[in-house]
Amino acid sequence: MPQAQGFILEKSKEPFFGPSDETPQRTSNPSGLRLRLAKFSDLPHLVKIEMESFDSDRFSPRTLHRLATRPTSCMLVAEMDGAVVGYAAVLFRAGVRHARLYGLCVAKVARGRGIGSHLLEEAEIRAEKHGKTGMTLEVRCDNPAACILYANAGYIEVCQLPSYYADGCNGFRLIKRLNRFTPSISGKSHP
Ligand SMILES: CC(C)(COP(=O)(O)OP(=O)(O)OC[C@H]1O[C@@H](n2cnc3c(N)ncnc32)[C@H](O)[C@@H]1OP(=O)(O)O)[C@@H](O)C(=O)NCCC(=O)NCCS
Repeated sequence: MPQAQGFILEKSKEPFFGPSDETPQRTSNPSGLRLRLAKFSDLPHLVKIEMESFDSDRFSPRTLHRLATRPTSCMLVAEMDGAVVGYAAVLFRAGVRHARLYGLCVAKVARGRGIGSHLLEEAEIRAEKHGKTGMTLEVRCDNPAACILYANAGYIEVCQLPSYYADGCNGFRLIKRLNRFTPSISGKSHP
């Protein structure tokens, strides 16, 4: 068993990514929170958040810019009381049924207030609107905050990714089926 996964199992006493039938419902936004698409003037703020959040495998300013401007991706920004405090980047590849959450990041000062969860939920809604039936993502084994967030949001483990990251850390590939807008048997969609 890879060392980092052992660390997670030891800490949590049970796997993070068990099967879940539940689709979490949209919760009310924390007060002052606004989610929107990124614009050019957000770039310096996104770079700053990226720099303070990751020691390795950071997105370059150029990558952040491309994620915000390409038609095959979407960059959502979280604004709290007018300040940019986080982002979620999603890839939509033609011919691929699943969207990919390529990045999720919240400024240190704004963590623990539900912003990451709201960005994730909004990313899923956008993915469904692009006709995607699921969301995949990769997460470091030694990132319990992100692992718990994803597990609570209904993501399950597809496979382990040995030495996936530049520093040799193992990863998990996770998936969630998106069915918020799938018509039910009665013909109604939910919510
Ligand atoms: C992971 C990250 C995006 C979470 O953002 P956040 O806004 O703080 O998350 P939320 O406040 O929405 O928390 C949602 C849930 O995640 C879990 N969680 C978040 N931070 C946690 C922490 N430090 N420890 C344990 N659980 C945590 C909790 O279950 C929490 O729900 P709860 O508050 O009801 O218990 C943020 O910590 C971050 O940007 N980290 C650095 C970048 C990163 O690792 N990104 C993920 C790459 S895959």
